[in-house]
Amino acid sequence: MRSLSIVDALFGPRDKTTILPPMKGIKTMAEAVHTRRVFSGIKPSGGLTLGNYLGAIKRFVDMQNDDFETIYCVVDMHAITVWQDPATLKFATRELVAAYIASGLDPAKSIVFNQSQVPAHAELGWIFNCVARMGWMNRMTQFKEKSGKNAEAVSLGLYAYPALMAADILIYKATHVPVGEDQKQHVELTRDIAAKFNNDFKVPDFFPITEPMIDGPATRVMNLRDGTKKMSKSGASDMERVNLTDSAELIVKKFKKAKTDPEPLPDSLEGLKDRPEARNLVEIYAALSETTPDAVIAEYAGAQWGRFKPALADLAVSKLEPISTEMSRLMQDTSEIDRILADGADRANAIAQPILNDVYDIVGFVRGRQ
Ligand code: TYM
Repeated sequence: MRSLSIVDALFGPRDKTTILPPMKGIKTMAEAVHTRRVFSGIKPSGGLTLGNYLGAIKRFVDMQNDDFETIYCVVDMHAITVWQDPATLKFATRELVAAYIASGLDPAKSIVFNQSQVPAHAELGWIFNCVARMGWMNRMTQFKEKSGKNAEAVSLGLYAYPALMAADILIYKATHVPVGEDQKQHVELTRDIAAKFNNDFKVPDFFPITEPMIDGPATRVMNLRDGTKKMSKSGASDMERVNLTDSAELIVKKFKKAKTDPEPLPDSLEGLKDRPEARNLVEIYAALSETTPDAVIAEYAGAQWGRFKPALADLAVSKLEPISTEMSRLMQDTSEIDRILADGADRANAIAQPILNDVYDIVGFVRGRQ
């Protein structure tokens, strides 16, 4: 007979497509049993966008001041699921660390490291390849989008990617994962993998049922030329996105040329319905100024784009320029960045290795050396 986990006992058979909502003021199931620990990561696969900054990095920084242990990774092993030029990968890895630090991540408060320096990610990833089901992987919309018509020619790693992502999170038994909207399905899969592992091996609550944290006004920053598409590092035109390394002039130009509609800003949020470009710019403004879209609408109700766009561009420059300046300064001495990564990897290993040892025992692997 199968033993029931706390989650199963309290919530019954799990619906694979839903997430238990975080309960305000009440500890989540994961928190009741596990240390409050945050894990998140970004791929070093080319330039960083305003979407990465608002949807992820800025929120990583904010969480550092909460009562969480925070672990932030540069997921280089994920990056190579599509071809990366080796020298460019090294550069992008260090540049992403520079972006983390320049944005306010403090290596004394958070563990900052690159994934390939902690082998336990790949080792647990293999075990999760054997836990996850083909049917689950086949439902991953990001794989479908990325492989497109070319599914036969993409790497096996791209397909298995979400199982490695689950390992990234669970090798630290992380209870909270701040991500943008596009990663929600992958965190749901992580929950399914955790629950199946706990059930299959009869180890209730060994892995936490991790909470995705997808909150704030900019969980899905949209393309500046087409408000129905996500802003991404790989979009065809550079004018679609703001890069963290863009000059002030270029940022101003991109917002000036951003697609909008002929209407002025509405006087309520409902007025943004069916106006994806307008809504996107309001949300970006809200996230950059750390307020809500409601407050932005209240300030700019009835304003024409000729007034709002320059205000948004100025705001973006004031927030992003200090970051890009600091990134260039940090990139002048990459030995300091490498030292931060090595130190972070040691601290990450110290948490991951004992958890991997437990997993190996649970799975039934014999180890001569304990
Ligand atoms: P990646 O590298 O594509 O993106 C990194 C983070 O940036 C967020 N993001 C956005 N947020 C809002 N609007 C956008 N337009 C936008 N574009 C990107 C993403 O949601 C993400 O939070 N699979 C992950 C990396 C990963 C990971 C993990 C994340 C690997 N292991 C474990 C969390 C936990 C990815 O490809 O992110």
